[in-house]
Amino acid sequence: MNKSQLKLRPMQSSDLALVISWRNHIDIRRYMYTQHEISLTEHTNWFNKVSKDSSYSLLIFELDNEPLGFVNIHRTAQRGIADWGFYTSPDAPKGTGSKLGAQALDYAFNILRLHKLCGQALDFNEASRKFHKRLGFKEEGILEQHHFDGKKYYDVICFGLLAHEYYLIIN
Ligand SMILES: CC(C)(COP(=O)(O)OP(=O)(O)OC[C@H]1O[C@@H](n2cnc3c(N)ncnc32)[C@H](O)[C@@H]1OP(=O)(O)O)[C@@H](O)C(=O)NCCC(=O)NCCS
Repeated sequence: MNKSQLKLRPMQSSDLALVISWRNHIDIRRYMYTQHEISLTEHTNWFNKVSKDSSYSLLIFELDNEPLGFVNIHRTAQRGIADWGFYTSPDAPKGTGSKLGAQALDYAFNILRLHKLCGQALDFNEASRKFHKRLGFKEEGILEQHHFDGKKYYDVICFGLLAHEYYLIIN
């Protein structure tokens, strides 16, 4: 039996329409810091700016050549430290997130050679909190009432994974 082919590849402008359809889906945007529906112009402007900035890696996760998720790794001012964001297609089968996560960590630590990858999740995002822990991230702290959605303040949970911790998990 053929093994399914998993890959992360750079996002291109031809991916914009698909990625915005995922990003604007209610099951995705309800967990984002900006929760309004994003217009194609706003999305295109964001892509044109960020894709020229070498501190960002904008990646599409593919399973057997079918795009199923998006990963954004942003190297911050400090050397070897990056924040990540991600989402799967709302129609992706269960288990897609785990495959995307494994590919993203391989990219972060073996290609970008990061020292540390950091994630943040809104406190009500159970799936992301469990997902980070399942990938080996440590919960490093809580930023209390750190996000305002226009009506209410929410806590933000901070996660971190160090390169040596990642290598212990995969070896
Ligand atoms: C987070 C996300 C990538 C997980 O993808 P997924 O395909 O559902 O993940 P998987 O099926 O591989 O599950 C991996 C683990 O994630 C957690 N998880 C996934 N969906 C969950 C849910 N609805 N509730 C609780 N935990 C969940 C579980 O720990 C699961 O492991 P388990 O099945 O052994 O319990 C996906 O739900 C998503 O894109 N969410 C919206 C966007 C988002 O929240 N991005 C992150 C912002 S911080």
